[in-house]
Amino acid sequence: MSHYVVQPVPCVDGAVRVPGDKSISHRALMLGSIADGVTEVRGFLESEDCLATMQAMRALGVRIEQQGAQEVRIHGVGLHGLKAANHALDMGNSGTAMRLMTGLLSGQQFDSELIGDSSLMKRPMERAAAPLRKMGAQIATFNGKPPVKITGKVQLAGIHYELPVASAQVKSAVLLAGLYAQGATTVVEPAVTRDHTERMLQGFGCTVDAMSGQVRLEPPTRLTACSLEVPGDFSSSAFFLVAGSISARNRNGAGLTIKGVGINPTRTGLLDILGLMGADLRIVNHRSAGAEPVADIEVHPVQLRGIHVPEHLVPLAIDEFPALFIAAACAQGETIVTGAEELRVKESDRIAVMAQGLRAMGVQCEVLPDGMRIQGRPEGAVFSGGQVDSHGDHRIAMSFTVASLRAAAPIEILDVANVATSFPGFVATAGSAGFRLAEHR
Ligand code: S3P
Repeated sequence: MSHYVVQPVPCVDGAVRVPGDKSISHRALMLGSIADGVTEVRGFLESEDCLATMQAMRALGVRIEQQGAQEVRIHGVGLHGLKAANHALDMGNSGTAMRLMTGLLSGQQFDSELIGDSSLMKRPMERAAAPLRKMGAQIATFNGKPPVKITGKVQLAGIHYELPVASAQVKSAVLLAGLYAQGATTVVEPAVTRDHTERMLQGFGCTVDAMSGQVRLEPPTRLTACSLEVPGDFSSSAFFLVAGSISARNRNGAGLTIKGVGINPTRTGLLDILGLMGADLRIVNHRSAGAEPVADIEVHPVQLRGIHVPEHLVPLAIDEFPALFIAAACAQGETIVTGAEELRVKESDRIAVMAQGLRAMGVQCEVLPDGMRIQGRPEGAVFSGGQVDSHGDHRIAMSFTVASLRAAAPIEILDVANVATSFPGFVATAGSAGFRLAEHR
C-alpha cells in the first residue's frame, strides 16, 4: 500500500496550477457522449475517476480520443445512440460518476449494471435511485448500495422533486434522467449546491431554468456538441489555500498563488469560511472558461481565528472540510462545524477519519454527530508528527500533507494511492510550492 512521508517545512510560496475540475470533467464526458457532433474538451482532468467514466462511455459505444495533455474529443452518438455494454461498468472511487450514470442510464433502451471500488461499494445509492423510480425507472440496489442494476426500455416521466438532502449528485441524476422523460422535470434544492450540470446543459443547447432554489428542465430533442474548457478544480486548490494561510511568512513576503481556478460561487464556500477566519485571500485575473468563472487566487500567511462555520456555507464547501479541519487546528480558539453530516458518507467517514488523524497528532477535537469541534493551537508546532491513516481517502491524504507546515516531526500518511483519483501529480505540484513529500509504494 503506498504511503507519503512528509517532512516539516516552514513555508510555501510561488505559483501552482491545479488539475482540471473533477465534477465538470465527468459531466463533459457524459453530455458530450449523448450530444450530436464532436465535443472538444480542454483542461480535462486525467485522473483515475474521470478515466473510469471515459471507459464506461466507451463501453457504451462512444468513440473518445485523448489528444495529448488534457485534451479530449468526444464523438457524440446522440441522445438515443448509446449501446448496451457487455460488462458491468466500473465507476472506480467516484460517487458522482455512479449516481449521475444511474440517472443517464435509466432512460436507455437497454439494461446496465454499475459497480465500483471497495469504498464506492459501501456508499448509499438509494438517494439517487428513489427519485428516479418516481420517474418510472427500474433500479435495484443491494441493501441500498451498489451494485446498481438498471432495467432499460421504460418510458420515464418528468417529476417535481424536492431533494431531501442538499446533493448536486442527486439533482444531476434526476436532470439527466429528465432528458429522456415525457414532460418537464423540476428539482427543488433545500440549499444551493454546485450547478455545473445546469450550466453545461445550457451550453449543449438545453432549456434549463434555474431560479430561487428550483431547476426546471424541458426534455430536449437533441443536445448539440460544443467546445468546453475545464477550469482548475477549486477543491484541489483548497489544500493550497489552507497551506498558504497557515504557512510562516517567507523572507520576501511573497505568498502563494493558485492559477486558473474555477470560482463558481456554488463551489467557493471555503473562501467565505477562511475569510471569516481572517484569511488574506485575493482573487485576481477574473475571466471565464465558457459557462464557468475562473480566477487566480493569491493567499498570504495570517493567524487564523476559530469560528462556528455558518451552516448555509456547508454545501458550498462540502469537499473542503478535511483541509478546513487542518486550518482550524492552527487557528486561535475553537472552531465548530455543524450541519455537515454528509461528510460521513463521502469516500470515507470524513468526520471519524479526520478526528482519528488529528488526535493521533495531538490535536484536541470532539466528534459531533454532524461535525466537529476543534481546539486550535495558534503557536508553534500544532501537529506532533507521526503516523496517520487516510483510509484510502484522497482528500484526507492531501490534507495531512498540508499539516507538515506546522508539524514538529515528519508525518507518515498511509493508503494514499487514491490521490490519483482527483489530483494526479500532487506530489510534484506540492513539491513545487515548497512541501517536502515523497511517495513510497
Ligand atoms: C459532486 C457533488 C458533491 C461532492 C462530490 C462531487 C458533484 O456530492 O461531494 O465530490 O460532482 O456533483 P453530493 O452531491 O453527494 O453532496
